[in-house]
Amino acid sequence: MADQHTAGVGEETPPLTPMSLATLLGRIEHEWATRKKLFDLPNARIWKPDENVDLSFEFLGRPCATPIGPAAGPHSQLAENIVLSWLGGSRLFELKTVQVLDELVVQRPCIDMQTIGYNIEWSQELLVPQSLTEYVKASMLIEILRQWEPLAEYIGSDPGPHVFDMSVGYDLAGISSDKVSSFIRGMKDASSEIEVLRSELTGSWARFTDLDFNPQISTTLTLSTFHGCPPEEIESITQHLIDEHDLDVIVKLNPTLLGYETVAGIVNDELGYSDVTVQEAAFTADLQFARGIELIEELNQYAKDRGRLFGIKLTNTLVVDNVKQWMPEDTMYLSGPPLHVLASTLLQRLAEALPGRLNIPGHDGDIMVSFSAGITKDNLADSIAMGVNPATVCSDLLKPGGYGRLAPMLKALTKEIAASGHTDLVGWKAARQQQAVADGYDTSAARHVAFIRGAGIDDYHLSGNEKLPRVVDNDLEMFGCVACNFCVTVCPNDAFFSIKSLDGMEGRQQYLLFTELCNECGNCLTFCPEEGDPAMIKPRLYSDPELFAGREGQGFLLEGGRIVDSRGDTGLADPESMTLVQMLLDSEQGNPLYSSTQTEAST
Ligand SMILES: Cc1cc2nc3c(=O)[nH]c(=O)nc-3n(C[C@H](O)[C@H](O)[C@H](O)COP(=O)(O)O)c2cc1C
Repeated sequence: MADQHTAGVGEETPPLTPMSLATLLGRIEHEWATRKKLFDLPNARIWKPDENVDLSFEFLGRPCATPIGPAAGPHSQLAENIVLSWLGGSRLFELKTVQVLDELVVQRPCIDMQTIGYNIEWSQELLVPQSLTEYVKASMLIEILRQWEPLAEYIGSDPGPHVFDMSVGYDLAGISSDKVSSFIRGMKDASSEIEVLRSELTGSWARFTDLDFNPQISTTLTLSTFHGCPPEEIESITQHLIDEHDLDVIVKLNPTLLGYETVAGIVNDELGYSDVTVQEAAFTADLQFARGIELIEELNQYAKDRGRLFGIKLTNTLVVDNVKQWMPEDTMYLSGPPLHVLASTLLQRLAEALPGRLNIPGHDGDIMVSFSAGITKDNLADSIAMGVNPATVCSDLLKPGGYGRLAPMLKALTKEIAASGHTDLVGWKAARQQQAVADGYDTSAARHVAFIRGAGIDDYHLSGNEKLPRVVDNDLEMFGCVACNFCVTVCPNDAFFSIKSLDGMEGRQQYLLFTELCNECGNCLTFCPEEGDPAMIKPRLYSDPELFAGREGQGFLLEGGRIVDSRGDTGLADPESMTLVQMLLDSEQGNPLYSSTQTEAST
């Protein structure tokens, strides 16, 4: 069987077309009624807080009910992604980075989670005003779902507060442009955006029309510093964000801060990733450790003098050579298990170099440390014990299970805290710090680093991360497959959905694609065990005639629940597939875009 990971070709970004608020609400209603799922998340994977264990923390002074959430990336771009993260238990959302260049061509495929994590996706795929609308929609949807009766028994009586944290990049000129400034202002006061969206609350959602939606979507921001961003630029951007926008700011740092020798030594030698080529030149261009320490101190003081809060985030991805060549581009960005070791080591070094300054146990300073690097269910508790607030996740959510992996993470953390006799994060972290000191370490971070680079190294070493996704010797077809559901769960945009097979059809489930939500990132191709690309082979549904006309390959254009046009791979209409797709859409589970009554009315 051909290795799917030799098949990559660079192609242009397909347009990502967000669904309207009304459509998303229709999906929610229909999916819950027919499948007891929300955006394909089974109700068993909805996080319900344990009333006896308080997982809350303060994110730059704002209350936040759990210490996890999506890191800036594909899980925090569209409104439904953010809602899915919230359902899974996320309460801190580092939103997808917004930048002035919003019509960049990102090559495809752009995500490779076959083993550890690599990507070449470095920018948002929506126009800046569209990003604002998505974040406002997400905020309104969460507000509605908090009060939506059918969900009450699954989310508990109090899902607690959450925080949306903006992310912008990548230089001062872009960040101070009108486009990005308007975005930031819009996020701080989304009153007008909310009023427009309010009109979409119709039908059974009309009773939420008068809800007092909070217009302040976000008042904090994490600055994503791209590789090569000079220290003066980081400094002036942070000052600009504080002075011009009155924001509390976090600076996301790169693992290059550790220096080339340390990074190459850890990744290549200690962890055994001999095929990873760390780019030495990137280290010279990036912020150096000594200057980094000064900068953190200076910016913290700058923020404090102006009554604002400051933090750091560890870390962004590591720039490496694209030796695999599955994705196009010469450079790719590494994430996942090896990055966890780098970021934890960086935290330990920073803790040593900034005694008493960080807001972690054993320091009790005021510089908050946020974290994103290879967080999994297995290392979440040890990571949180280091004092990081929050631990955000990206690569792990791109593995099978997707957003459904969040609630088990929180359950494991809750269990760990309860088992040690504590009832809240704060008390538990203090006890973990005492234990670390009793065991001879300065901080819990030092203890964690000793473990992951010592007895616990297997989870991060090449040997523990080289297993490839399962393959079966079968060509993927439009109808019928092994029905593993991976295409649904690994898609951050929830572009796939499934419908129960009809009599006479092969397989338990049939999978269909909302083409307009698919940006061909390649993640379903990686995990589909069969031969072929699910995003190209499964029925591609369109609701926009222009997009349907402008794109190639098979597709089915829908209007009011009916297929009004279709074409096969060769460009010819395919009556047999059209009949089958229409039958599936008309079946009991039907098309999530149209409620059963709408479908009936239109037949
Ligand atoms: C596909 C993908 C897209 C990402 N996009 C962004 C981004 O837009 N802005 C950003 O600051 N970081 C971005 N990141 C980095 C993540 O936010 C995170 O810092 C990094 O992946 C490490 O976490 P992980 O090991 O859990 O993936 C992206 C990562 C991935 C894998």
